[in-house]
Order: sequence, then C-alpha cells, then structure tokens
Amino acid sequence: MDEPLSSAPLVFRDDGTPYSPRHDDIYHSAAGALAQARHVFLDGNGLPARWRKKSRFTVVETGFGMGVNFLATWAAWRNDPQRSPALEFVSVEKHPFSANDLRAAHAAIIDDTAIAQLADALASAWPPLEAGVHRLAFLAGAVTLTLAFGDAGTLLPHLADHGLAADAIYLDGFAPARNPDMWTPAIFASLARIAREDATFATYTSAGLVKRALRDNGFDYLKVAGFGGKRAMLVGKRLQSRSVIDS
Ligand SMILES: C[S@@+](CC[C@H](N)C(=O)[O-])C[C@H]1O[C@@H](n2cnc3c(N)ncnc32)[C@H](O)[C@@H]1O
Repeated sequence: MDEPLSSAPLVFRDDGTPYSPRHDDIYHSAAGALAQARHVFLDGNGLPARWRKKSRFTVVETGFGMGVNFLATWAAWRNDPQRSPALEFVSVEKHPFSANDLRAAHAAIIDDTAIAQLADALASAWPPLEAGVHRLAFLAGAVTLTLAFGDAGTLLPHLADHGLAADAIYLDGFAPARNPDMWTPAIFASLARIAREDATFATYTSAGLVKRALRDNGFDYLKVAGFGGKRAMLVGKRLQSRSVIDS
C-alpha cells in the first residue's frame, strides 16, 4: 500500500470526453458523464429506492476517476426525502487527479449547478495524493467518502479483511480488454466477501470475462440496455444460489 502514487494527467479528446492515455480509454461516455452515472450505476442498483429501508447505505466502487458517480449518488441521495440517514461511499483509485485537475475536469463535464456545488465541496476536501485510505466527511458526517488510493488488487482484499460491507457495488474500471488489472479473479473474490447478502452491482460492460467472474463468485447477473449507444450492460445481485439469469 505504500508504493508511491502516480497521478493521472487531465486529457480531453477532441469531442470533450476525458481520456486516459495510460489506459487508452475514456472516463465516461461521450453521451454524458452524469447521465451515464444515473443510468448505469444508480438505476442499475435500484437507487434511490434501495437506500430507503436502511439506516446507513454503503456504495463500494472500483475506480473513483473524477468522482462523477459519487457526485451523482450524493445528489440523488440529498434530493430524496426518504433517504437513509447516512450515505457511505468507498472507492479505490490507483491514479488520482490533483485537486486542480479535478476542478478543471468538473468545470468541463458538469452542467448542473447543484452538482457543481457538491463538486466544489469535494475538490476543497480532496486529500493529498498519498497511497492509503483517506476519509472525507460532508454534511456533519451524514455523507462519508473513503478514498483508498492505490491498486484495487491490493486494496480490496485489505478492505474486505477490515470488514467493509457493501449494499451496492459500482464496477467502473475502464474496459476489461484495456485494463485487465481492474477485473482480476482476486478483485471479484474480494467483492464477493464485501457484498452484503442483499447487495446489488452494476457495470457498463457486458464482457464475457466479467460475466464469468461474477458467476464464479456467487453473483447473478442480467443483461440490460446500456447507455449512450452501448447495446448491453450488466446488473445483478449477490445470491446464495449461482444460477445465471441470462448469458
Ligand atoms: C472509468 S474511470 C472511473 C470513472 C469514475 N468512476 C467517475 O465517476 O468519474 C476508471 C478509473 O479506474 C482507475 N484504475 C485503473 N486501474 C486501476 C487499478 N488497478 N486500481 C485502482 N484504480 C484503477 C483509473 O485510474 C480510473 O480513474
């Protein structure tokens, strides 16, 4: 966990989509970062409805990136009169942006004034770029963000060992073909340990290796319509039985 971090450069493609030269992939769909977050990760996990019966709702994410999924989740939670008293968001990130680049990225991709205010609060609380676990608190602790800076393959087993328990899992680690490190058997095994009994997950990919890894680790998946021209994505839940709904 203590190896030095290598931050991410802020690069945009000609169409304005944030792009990672390291992984040769985009951070979000060109069809809209916030809309993608809502379709894939919120709708895909049955949110807001699923947090309404809980006193604390915990989201675990692979790949924090620009925090768009976090901001969309926080905003949806804040706008929901029936929200859980507490929202906990835990995310792992190997190549974080600097606070300045985070602000620049948000200025370029966030077109919603209310969410821009949350983005400003996030950038103001942004931790130093040091490997390890950083805890941020907002709204007097009703919203907490745990940022684990480092490799997901090391951090997720560590977080599982320390009792992290997820109600919803966002799998958002660049395309499996371009970034296999984010989709390893060890990562899925850790997520299986982290998933609460009624946990759900969502991911924009429908790659075969992800389907197999989910099935091998006790998750049931369903192929549903993807976002922004993508034909399919996967949603599902942890099950005791390992029957596959759709392959
Ligand atoms: C598609 S982006 C995530 C977008 C993000 N969820 C958001 O809402 O803005 C994927 C992220 O995974 C991170 N990543 C890639 N490989 C990783 C690894 N092995 N461990 C942890 N993070 C990794 C990348 O640096 C990148 O920020």
